[in-house]
Amino acid sequence: MPNLLNANCTIFGIKVFREMYRIIKWIPLISTFFTLCRSLENGLARTPPMGWLAWERFRCNTDCKNDPDNCISDRLFRTMTDLLISEGYAAVGYEYINVDDCWLEKERSYNGHLQPDLRRFPYGMRDLSNYVHSKGLKFGIYEDFGNYTCAGYPGIIGSLETDAYTFASWDVDYVKLDGCYSHPSEMDKGYPEFGFHLNRTGRPMIYSCSWPVYQIYSGIQPNYSSIIESCNLWRNFDDIQDSWSSLESIIDYYGNNQDTIVPNAGPGHWNDPDMLIVGNFGLSYEQSKTQMAIWAILAAPLLMSVDLRTIRPEYKAILQNRKIITVDQDPLGIQGKRIYKHKGIEIWARPITPIFQNYFSYAIAFLNRRTDGTPSDVAVTLAEMGLLAPGGYRIEDLYEDVDYGILSPQTKIKVKVNPSGVVILRADVQPSYGRVSTTYNPFKNYFSYKTDNDF
Ligand code: GLA
Repeated sequence: MPNLLNANCTIFGIKVFREMYRIIKWIPLISTFFTLCRSLENGLARTPPMGWLAWERFRCNTDCKNDPDNCISDRLFRTMTDLLISEGYAAVGYEYINVDDCWLEKERSYNGHLQPDLRRFPYGMRDLSNYVHSKGLKFGIYEDFGNYTCAGYPGIIGSLETDAYTFASWDVDYVKLDGCYSHPSEMDKGYPEFGFHLNRTGRPMIYSCSWPVYQIYSGIQPNYSSIIESCNLWRNFDDIQDSWSSLESIIDYYGNNQDTIVPNAGPGHWNDPDMLIVGNFGLSYEQSKTQMAIWAILAAPLLMSVDLRTIRPEYKAILQNRKIITVDQDPLGIQGKRIYKHKGIEIWARPITPIFQNYFSYAIAFLNRRTDGTPSDVAVTLAEMGLLAPGGYRIEDLYEDVDYGILSPQTKIKVKVNPSGVVILRADVQPSYGRVSTTYNPFKNYFSYKTDNDF
């Protein structure tokens, strides 16, 4: 009997030992995993970041000798910092001044550190960052997870930890990490690793990744659950160019791939359809309104790339439209979707606050992709767009000063949408404590509202 017990114990003991060993040998890996997991939530970008980014408008102009006003230089970023404040952009939420490519010296310093081109950034990046901070704004910088940046300056490969500390020592608040000259198959490891080093510096820095777009280009299906955990925002698609066709291709990409893309957005992690090009050369007034409206529906980062010295007032007004910015910055952080597309007319809708019981409020954009030169009428009931709250919705136009009042879900709403233009409405859900109904007079094209007291 004792033997048997011993035998049992021994067998049990070996089993326990084996089990313990199996667990113990994973501990280093498990702890790395949890360290990485801990590194993933940096508490930043609870709403999509807003600011100014040099690339689309100023590109890689390094010719300060012949073009001192427009080259990538300390002076350009200080000027834009000043204008962000004096022209009222900061007051409506634009906060980051972001350097893009072409700020670097072609070689690292003798001890392996990144260094700015000292002719164009004579005071160094820390001084520029101090200037931006002294105005109450935040400072962003650009690098690349590869041997070179897209424009051929030194990338971070081989120096991830050093570069993260360099950025922290310059009081950087936002890092865009591009993906040229790298292997997209290494990004699943490399992007989280750099994020880990950024977080280890202890300085809160928004982390903007180009990880999915480069993987998509090389036929790799991005692992969005990992991307969400590592990055505050990420590029999914092509660079925006200064044209309506470029803008259309981006809008189509987000509409056509919305089932994969939309669920990934939320507070702290955003899809980035690229910069706002409003106020440049390529978009008409209507098209500019379209970009701003659709970006708000997409819960997109609002990073203007425009010359703030020369922008015309009507474009500035689009960028400073508080009502649309409020939609973009809605605290729920739910990205909107294209809910209708037929014969050149699209309807996009985004659930927003306030919520009443199970009913969201919505931002709704009617987009006219037709080119037949005259505005198109769109008529649709709120219920057909999924707005079913029994108390109805207060409807307001976000560009035009029109308040439609409170409409029931059965009410047909009618809008006129200009070619390549948009009408964007917000529909605030109303509490329903009593009987509410709405009548619509199609001839006068107005809506009236009746409550219990009117019956
Ligand atoms: C890539 C990025 C752009 C810009 C350039 C800079 O193309 O997608 O946004 O940063 O590189 O070279």
